[in-house]
Amino acid sequence: MIREGKKLILSKKKQAVIYNEGFKRVNSLRIGIGSDHGGYNLKELIKNYLKDRGDIEVEDYGTFDSNSVDYPDFALKVACAVASGDVDRGILCCGTGIGVAIAANKVPGIRAAVCSDTFSARMSREHNDANILCLGERVVGPGLALEILRVWLESEFEGGRHKRRIDKITDVERQYIKGESVQ
Ligand code: RB5
Repeated sequence: MIREGKKLILSKKKQAVIYNEGFKRVNSLRIGIGSDHGGYNLKELIKNYLKDRGDIEVEDYGTFDSNSVDYPDFALKVACAVASGDVDRGILCCGTGIGVAIAANKVPGIRAAVCSDTFSARMSREHNDANILCLGERVVGPGLALEILRVWLESEFEGGRHKRRIDKITDVERQYIKGESVQ
């Protein structure tokens, strides 16, 4: 169902960001979010956006201010929450989105995708079944970041041949967990 949302103006440091021009409701997703200092402002914006949508439960794994921290700490908190099933999917922000993605992808079962455009966001769900979206606050502006997020939330995994490929990745994880050599 497409719901026409009202235009909403967010004030942050005297900057207004307009979002919520309509979205497709998702079925009560639980989302874990996290960032380092480089992605802190974007994480806060995303948290407000998700709460305003009203169809998504949000768990914030920090960081909780803009003091300098190490991105792997927060990437791993969100990745472990997704891998354990505490939340359904995750969103991670840092300066580029790259550091948090590299760290999150070390956790078995995680498929974290850095997206800076809406096409990649949709493909990361439909073909790769990405369970964590990584965004770079220093790469994409707030309006594009929220549009990428909206598309990512509303896109579904297509399964079929894509499932076969994901299963091959999962097999590699299993082999490494068991300590088998991988060619
Ligand atoms: C922090 O300065 C920055 O390196 C971090 O946010 C991220 O971009 C790393 O990938």
